[in-house]
Amino acid sequence: MNKKRPDFNSRAAEWDNLPRRVLLANAVADLIIKEVHPEPWMRMLDYGCGTGLVTLGLQQVVKEVIAADSSIGMLEQLQTKAEEAQIANIHTLLIDLDQKLKLPQGIDLLVSSMTMHHVPDLDELFSIFRLVMNPDGWLCIADLETEDGSFHDDQSVHIPHPGFNIDEMELYFKNAGFRDVKTLPVMTIKKERDGSHCGYPVNLTFGRS
Ligand SMILES: C[S@@+](CC[C@H](N)C(=O)[O-])C[C@H]1O[C@@H](n2cnc3c(N)ncnc32)[C@H](O)[C@@H]1O
Repeated sequence: MNKKRPDFNSRAAEWDNLPRRVLLANAVADLIIKEVHPEPWMRMLDYGCGTGLVTLGLQQVVKEVIAADSSIGMLEQLQTKAEEAQIANIHTLLIDLDQKLKLPQGIDLLVSSMTMHHVPDLDELFSIFRLVMNPDGWLCIADLETEDGSFHDDQSVHIPHPGFNIDEMELYFKNAGFRDVKTLPVMTIKKERDGSHCGYPVNLTFGRS
């Protein structure tokens, strides 16, 4: 049986209600600020931004943000939050997963949180990231460490990667031409599975273009 892609549109309105998602996004944004020291002239891209939990944690320290996602529902949530907070430097970009990926050029800071495990061809995506980035830009990718396949509640959907070990994630960076690659732990997501508590560590990998 061919499993289907996860339906993020139907989950968008409730996405921010789970405190662990907000905690993780804040931890990712804080660690990026600590390690990268984003500058006020930077053009940032958040790939797989969802409702913008990470985007909104970084938009105030850069000039401009492109928030890209394949779910219109997720992007609408972000747009509503940005309008309510009168934030004018975020532009949304809807990704069509059935078309060749095109991203805007001139990116100084490219971030992504909890999205890479949903992307089938990461060698291709990292090459595109490298192509759209300015020299000396930063790529910052947060995702699950390799897990046993139990992380996602809905087992009927297709998840291309069960997380990544650190070497594997760093190799995607290096193969695409990123340098000074390093990985730091962000936090461990806790979930209950079959009556026991399971921990799913999340790492943040950095590289420079
Ligand atoms: C687990 S959510 C994470 C959202 C957000 N980064 C956060 O931390 O809350 C993954 C997001 O990636 C988006 N997504 C999945 N596959 C994608 C792809 N190939 N390209 C762009 N976005 C994708 C989904 O629509 C969803 O919003």
